[in-house]
Amino acid sequence: AKLLVLHGPNLNLLGTREPEVYGKTTLEQINRDLTALAQEFGVEIDCCQSNHEGALIDRMQEAMGNTHGIIFNPGGYTHTSVALRDCIAGTSIPTIEVHLSNVHAREEFRHRSLLAPVCKGQITGLGAIGYTLAFHAFLEDFAKRGL
Ligand code: DQA
Repeated sequence: AKLLVLHGPNLNLLGTREPEVYGKTTLEQINRDLTALAQEFGVEIDCCQSNHEGALIDRMQEAMGNTHGIIFNPGGYTHTSVALRDCIAGTSIPTIEVHLSNVHAREEFRHRSLLAPVCKGQITGLGAIGYTLAFHAFLEDFAKRGL
């Protein structure tokens, strides 16, 4: 099975970016942990980050037909992007939305996700562990799909 991990805008700054909100773990550490986990369970994994909405859409479209799941932290685009929502719906690749911070405990504009309704599920507020949990959810899902 093959998994794509997609990180949206400003997540390249993790570790130094508002550590009281997002924690001290860097994106590199998150990707390294996920890659080790994937190796352990025989899952192929590709981790990508982009600050650009169109680049995220391009990467998702490239995944069509060759990727079985996407772990996606869309950053600020979560709350604004009709185009990313359409992409998730249009590519039909099962996607789990992950947020490090608890978006529901923060500013009102973060309470609404345009993407969550077309995702398999949403994990929010648990820090970097959220990515690990999403990975395990996909393992279960892959087994059910016979992958
Ligand atoms: C975030 C939450 C978003 O509201 C914010 O814009 C981010 C990070 C998170 O992981 O907690 O960039 O997706």
